[in-house]
Amino acid sequence: MIVLGIESSCDDTSVSVLKDGNILSVATNTQTVHSGYGGVIPEVASRAHLKNISAVLKNALDKAAVGLNDIDAVGATYGPGLVGPLLVGLNFAKGLAFSLSIPLVPVNHIESHILANFIEHPDIEYPFLALVVSGGHTELVYSPSFGKYELIGRTRDDAAGECIDKVSKMLGRGFPGGKIMDSLASEGDSGFTVFPRGMKNSPDFSFSGLKTAVKYYIEKNDKAFIDQNISDIAASFIDSVTDSLTEKLFSAAELKKPATVLLAGGVSANTSLRKKASAYAAKKSIRLCYPSVQYCTDNAAMTAMSAYMMIKKYGTDRFRFDPELDAVPFLRIEDKKI
Ligand code: KG4
Ligand code: ZN
Repeated sequence: MIVLGIESSCDDTSVSVLKDGNILSVATNTQTVHSGYGGVIPEVASRAHLKNISAVLKNALDKAAVGLNDIDAVGATYGPGLVGPLLVGLNFAKGLAFSLSIPLVPVNHIESHILANFIEHPDIEYPFLALVVSGGHTELVYSPSFGKYELIGRTRDDAAGECIDKVSKMLGRGFPGGKIMDSLASEGDSGFTVFPRGMKNSPDFSFSGLKTAVKYYIEKNDKAFIDQNISDIAASFIDSVTDSLTEKLFSAAELKKPATVLLAGGVSANTSLRKKASAYAAKKSIRLCYPSVQYCTDNAAMTAMSAYMMIKKYGTDRFRFDPELDAVPFLRIEDKKI
């Protein structure tokens, strides 16, 4: 079975071709137009998706050496995300499914980040506990079996990735800041200074206090001092983010005793987070999985994989073309009904 995945929930236009659970190709256009603004501008993103999506599809098909008529089903992200970008990808997918008379699987973006783990680790055992950390989400999710999700904790304010991006901007280091802060932090001393850890002793997360603490730190010290010690400051900041993430992940793991712990989303590419989670998993003899970096940040391989797993579980009849399928910008993982 060949499944086409389409992802357009934020600023990446991505299309992937999957055959029987194996990724044949991924083509992604990452919009660089937003970097000058320090954040994603929704209308600009929607128009860029509209402009690029046909070429990205062609690229994915060419790379996989398959034609449109070889596709057996389409999977597309229908939420959560920015409404304009979602509408472009979803409507494009609807057009393809309608014209080719094939099923269309609506894919939840948060679930697809989690299921990205199955691309390289198809033998993951349930129940699992997943930490989903991205630019838009910070959620701790327990899954007893395929398609069932219990929300254990979530951020009360900023997502971890959003906080990292804002701090990178405050330190004058560019957008998006995840990769930049990660490489600076890898060269620095995390004991240089101490930034606060939000919402201790709660399964929920908070990162806005940390963001404010860094803001005051920058205001209190002169620019030369900040620039001279940038790696150490980045390391201390990232240490606070990853301490909060792992503290809650580990507490939930003690409580729920999952067979597997998963990291997912753009921030799961982070070196310090992977190190801390790996050390814990080794100590407790729990299996830890995380996707390779290309499948952590937004990509359509995870969308195609999710659609494939859903078809395998529920059959294609469940996903007959629905002309009324709409984008759901605030879709939550615990609302999942399919
Ligand atoms: O999953 P993703 O591509 O998009 C959303 O669904 O939000 O995540 C993007 C986020 C951005 O905030 C980016 O700065 C962050 O993931 N990120 C990282 C790293 N790579 C990307 N954060 C920390 N360390 C990284 N290596
Ligand atoms: Zn994402």
